[in-house]
Amino acid sequence: MAEMFPITDVRARFPALALTDDGRPRVYLDGPGGTQVPDCVIDRMTRCLIDANANHAGAFRTSVAADAVVAEAHAAMADLVNAGSPDDIVVGANMTTLTYAFSRSIGVGLSPGDEIVVTNMDHEGNISPWLQLANERGLTVRWMRFDPARGRFADDALTRVLSPRTRLVALGLASNLIGTVNQTARFAVEARTAGALVYVDAVQYAPHRPLDVAALGADFVVWSAYKVFGPHLGVLWGRSGLLADLPAFRVRTAPTLAPGRWETGTANLEGEAGLIGVVDYLGWLADAGDPAPADHGSAGPLRPRTRRLHQAMHRIAAYEDRLTARLLEGLAWIPAITVLGLADPAARADRVPTVAFTVDGVPSAEVARRLALENIFVWSGHNYALEVVRAYGIDEQDGVVRIGLVHYTTAAEVDAVLDRLATWYGTGAA
Ligand SMILES: Cc1ncc(COP(=O)(O)O)c(C=O)c1O
Repeated sequence: MAEMFPITDVRARFPALALTDDGRPRVYLDGPGGTQVPDCVIDRMTRCLIDANANHAGAFRTSVAADAVVAEAHAAMADLVNAGSPDDIVVGANMTTLTYAFSRSIGVGLSPGDEIVVTNMDHEGNISPWLQLANERGLTVRWMRFDPARGRFADDALTRVLSPRTRLVALGLASNLIGTVNQTARFAVEARTAGALVYVDAVQYAPHRPLDVAALGADFVVWSAYKVFGPHLGVLWGRSGLLADLPAFRVRTAPTLAPGRWETGTANLEGEAGLIGVVDYLGWLADAGDPAPADHGSAGPLRPRTRRLHQAMHRIAAYEDRLTARLLEGLAWIPAITVLGLADPAARADRVPTVAFTVDGVPSAEVARRLALENIFVWSGHNYALEVVRAYGIDEQDGVVRIGLVHYTTAAEVDAVLDRLATWYGTGAA
């Protein structure tokens, strides 16, 4: 018996979902590029700009309040991902900027001839910084490649490229284009056993599944708050020893301890307040509706707030899985459409609800434009997953159409996009 998901209550929490244009609702299927935010995120940000609008470490009331926001935001993100301490959480501008910063710092300890592994399923944010580092330091780049026909990495994909000289493995938890969830915990064990650092991009996983850095076993895990119902910020978890010891590029007067040594410059305070709002929202969702299934797969016992937040994420995953199956089943009825990667609705547990496809004879940009005219928002292109598009031999500039479902998407919205696609492309006529 499928769990009842409180979709009406959920949608009521997101003010943007109620907007209409000339009487037509907005259908947000652009979630992989950024999600909408619930009321409590907006409230937290607004209140911060009124009550706590000051720089850090002052003796006066607004500065004390600002310090409290920063501390609370780090604690909130630590609980969201089951981090050992709020000090293991670094808040930055976005995933890409954080990854450039950490690649610079990790690179200080690397020498010519050292090897790094990147994958062709990743977003450029977890490829380009490492390629540039390799170029600068004379490192050898090994590519871990997925099987396009299966939309997955083979079990030995990492084994084939690891060597005694591998110093770093950069890989993604879930693809931002084809949605595959990778066996990252298993790869992390393999890489760390070989003596390499493991840097994981969890950007597309975090909005859809409970993220548990303790269970994952990597050295760094990074995600984008604005794709997890929050403000435009990036967040990184790092092993405490590494956050303490790696050289950080910071001004002399910045804090010497983590996470402050990585957060040099004035914080985006109102954004950090928004991070607290994300956790407020997920805490609400944990308690809304039926009890969520308790499948944690964590390395150890979870703190009470982490348990609740992960319950909310399990509830999200269960609901999204049903929508993904509906979408994939509908797309399978349209002969002109080819879904990339895991197209079988039965494989939904191995993917997040991000689905990429091409339409025979129709440019992807045109499909996206046509849907936009119907007020249905989807992305087209390579979406910075350049290597994935290349692996499928698709025109790099036109790329694919990407439909991204989120837990505030309704079955009716899935049906609406399927209806348009079937009407336009169902007969093979473009
Ligand atoms: C998988 C993945 N990694 C990294 C990024 C880059 O994130 P940011 O925009 O926070 O730099 C994105 C953004 O789309 C993404 O989908």
